[in-house]
Amino acid sequence: MQIGPYSLPNNLFVAPMAGVTDRPFRQLCRRLGAGYAVSEMVTSRKDLWNSLKTSRRANHDGEAAPISVQIAGTDAAMMAEATTYNIERGAQIIDINMGCPAKKVCSKWAGSALMQDEPLALEIIRAVVEAATAAGAVPVTLKMRTGWCQAEKNAVRLALAAQDAGVAMVTVHGRTREQGYKGEAEYDTIAAVKAALRIPVVANGDVDSPHKAREVLRRTGADAVMIGRAAQGRPWIFREIAHYLATGELLDTPPVLQAQDWLVEHLHDHYSLYGELTGMRTARKHIGWAVRGLPGGEAFRQRMNLLESSTAQVAALRQWFGALAQQHERLPVSTAGMEAAHDEEHQARQPA
Ligand SMILES: Cc1cc2nc3c(=O)[nH]c(=O)nc-3n(C[C@H](O)[C@H](O)[C@H](O)COP(=O)(O)O)c2cc1C
Repeated sequence: MQIGPYSLPNNLFVAPMAGVTDRPFRQLCRRLGAGYAVSEMVTSRKDLWNSLKTSRRANHDGEAAPISVQIAGTDAAMMAEATTYNIERGAQIIDINMGCPAKKVCSKWAGSALMQDEPLALEIIRAVVEAATAAGAVPVTLKMRTGWCQAEKNAVRLALAAQDAGVAMVTVHGRTREQGYKGEAEYDTIAAVKAALRIPVVANGDVDSPHKAREVLRRTGADAVMIGRAAQGRPWIFREIAHYLATGELLDTPPVLQAQDWLVEHLHDHYSLYGELTGMRTARKHIGWAVRGLPGGEAFRQRMNLLESSTAQVAALRQWFGALAQQHERLPVSTAGMEAAHDEEHQARQPA
């Protein structure tokens, strides 16, 4: 799998998720089998570049190449500037966000809303490609949905135009913007995009198991699959999928104490990026995802949410996983986690 000059170790990608796929989480996923990870979206609004949030998002300390930064905005000149700015700060690939369902930038809808305005979308793509080329032939990739709404699925047309404009890879989330996260992802449009393009195409949407990954690759003919929500609290899904694709066999779930160690390692990285207070608070969601669907996980999550220091969080976590390990050598399999993840997202992320 190749993006521009970069050869990737495999075709399993971590989806960009604002508030989730920060540098510590991306590094964890890559250690556990992901071949590539896109950063959380960075706004094209210059006035926000020095904010703590954006500077944390632009933190790539120790991250393995290629470093891919996603940018979002609605103005071509600002997106071009954001391209140059991020390349100067270490971005080796620039990803344009036309996939987010509800993201307001400069009082306008950015993300997948741009799919409704193809001339503007193309103007942005061309401006970003031009800036990235001028900054040293940096590849530009595009993340989109299948279209604006059921009646207007323009992914193939837009993807072809993007390819002509010099985009190096296209990712398609198998839902329209109108759908938000509701319903099921459909893969026929992704297959049509793959059939129409000569650049690599990545399939995204609802991949939550090794079987599903193989099925989506087969049905779409895509070059890679991108996984978002299923990696929350379960970053080892990448090695599970990699193993299955390579051997046809399912890996056992990880030993409970191994999962605990990965989580604790992740938390320490997380605290050092965000500092004690913000780190402790934002770590709660990662801990919640990690215990979701496990026996006693919900009660633990509620108790853990009342703790007010990182030391107390890690101690409680070790104690809880230690007790779980007395009952189970390996993580008890649960699909409840994924279902709950989808329900949560359906409720939380309706498009406006
Ligand atoms: C919490 C959250 C944040 C997201 N943030 C972004 C983002 O910043 N940029 C983007 O292109 N997509 C974003 N997405 C969409 C995901 O990248 C992905 O397309 C979507 O979740 C479908 O994949 P999945 O079914 O594997 O989760 C986000 C999704 C979630 C759940």
